[in-house]
Amino acid sequence: GELRTWAGAVQTVRSPVCVRNADGELEPVVLGSYPESSEAEADAALAAAVAAYDQGRGEWPTMSVAERIACVEEFTRQMLAQKRQIVQLIMWEIGKSFADSEKEFDRTVEYIRATIAELKQLDNNCSRFTVVEGTIGQIRRAPLGVVLCMGPYNYPLNETFATLIPALIMGNTLLFKPPRFGTLLFYPLLEAFRSAFPRGVINTVYGRGSVVVPRVMATGKINVLTLIGSSKIADQMKKMHPKSNRLRAVLGLDAKNAAIVLPDADIELAVKECLLGTLSFNGQRCTALKMLLVHQSIVDPFLRRFGEELAKIKIGMPWEPGVMVTPLPEGKADFMASLVADAVAKGARVLNKGGGERAGSLFRPALVFPVKEGMKLYREEQFGPVIPVVAFEDVEEALEYVITSDHGQQVSLFSSSPDQIGHLVDPLVNQVCRVNINCQCQRGPDVFPFTGRKDSAEGTLSVHDALRSFSIRSMVATKQTPANTK
Ligand code: G3H
Repeated sequence: GELRTWAGAVQTVRSPVCVRNADGELEPVVLGSYPESSEAEADAALAAAVAAYDQGRGEWPTMSVAERIACVEEFTRQMLAQKRQIVQLIMWEIGKSFADSEKEFDRTVEYIRATIAELKQLDNNCSRFTVVEGTIGQIRRAPLGVVLCMGPYNYPLNETFATLIPALIMGNTLLFKPPRFGTLLFYPLLEAFRSAFPRGVINTVYGRGSVVVPRVMATGKINVLTLIGSSKIADQMKKMHPKSNRLRAVLGLDAKNAAIVLPDADIELAVKECLLGTLSFNGQRCTALKMLLVHQSIVDPFLRRFGEELAKIKIGMPWEPGVMVTPLPEGKADFMASLVADAVAKGARVLNKGGGERAGSLFRPALVFPVKEGMKLYREEQFGPVIPVVAFEDVEEALEYVITSDHGQQVSLFSSSPDQIGHLVDPLVNQVCRVNINCQCQRGPDVFPFTGRKDSAEGTLSVHDALRSFSIRSMVATKQTPANTK
């Protein structure tokens, strides 16, 4: 609820974009720095959120839905005024292309507007009356308490706000920690957080999760954990809460989405969609295609056409028009190289010329075939520009891959036979939460449910579902006597 100056430790922010230094070596551009919140800062932020919620008696949780909407609308107005700066910061801080950074901003504003529209429909502004068997029920949507909100680096604005805004607008108060790669872009919004909402409703801490998170979770005062990130971290965080049965979790986690390309697939279409699916924003999307399972009978033409299209993509700096592959954040190119080396050591080949080559933080995508069980790429989520391909003989093998996966977010299915598709859709949809027919995997449109099974998610996001995920259906029941009815 207040802007604070900071005299403690700071973290330097380096862009994935590198420039040559005086010695001619490539090194990351330094963008600025952010404060490393201390344990005392974390305590203060949590105390402010707890006080603002005040066991449900605070100004924010008791405010009318219309008033809360007005605050979010005011926030959105201020956010729009900062668009230029925020888009530039997304681009520089995480290396996303300018076009995609702008799309991320616009999609976020659209998401907020759609959330407001959905809330107006939700149980008639969270308060719907119904009369059943002589009882008048006022059905409400009530907040849950204090929410710890942590977003991801790949969609630092959009996915953060896909949880933060619904959590906020339902009357919860928040402790918010921006992603470590993707912190500076929230600076232009701090004044809007402060002025659009009552004091203590949203409290921002920065820096290392390992300092802030154990501290606040151990208090037992966090009612909802919302994290878009890794399942391992989510598990650790849940265990830090002394009463995990009292903690609601809304989580978007790991995924290893596969494309299954059947013998009768339209190869041109499959190649186009699989290229987009594997490489948009360098494959750094939880919904990216991270495994291509292609039928043996068409694997040669598929790989030839894929290789041809792959050779045409533009690799370069995020501000260059039409660029698809951009610099990777610190450490990422090393990880990509290690996955490729492991597969090659175990018998796979890099099929495209120059695949896996590096220049600073740029990594030329690698098309790796044949990938087999036992190679890291077979199961591990690469979250980057490496494209593993497996050839299968029987569709049961492809289904088995999906069934035995630890992940259960989405699948893409390529076939031109309605019968084949019809035959496979049910078993697949009982394994993952979205089956995409003849198109890549993706989250949008944002009104569609977004979730996953197994280690991929907990709770459901989307304009429609998030409002429900961050609230509880409650009611006031009144006997229908003449006095009460009056
Ligand atoms: O990183 C995960 C995002 O939710 C992916 O969203 O499919 O719209 O790129 P997208």
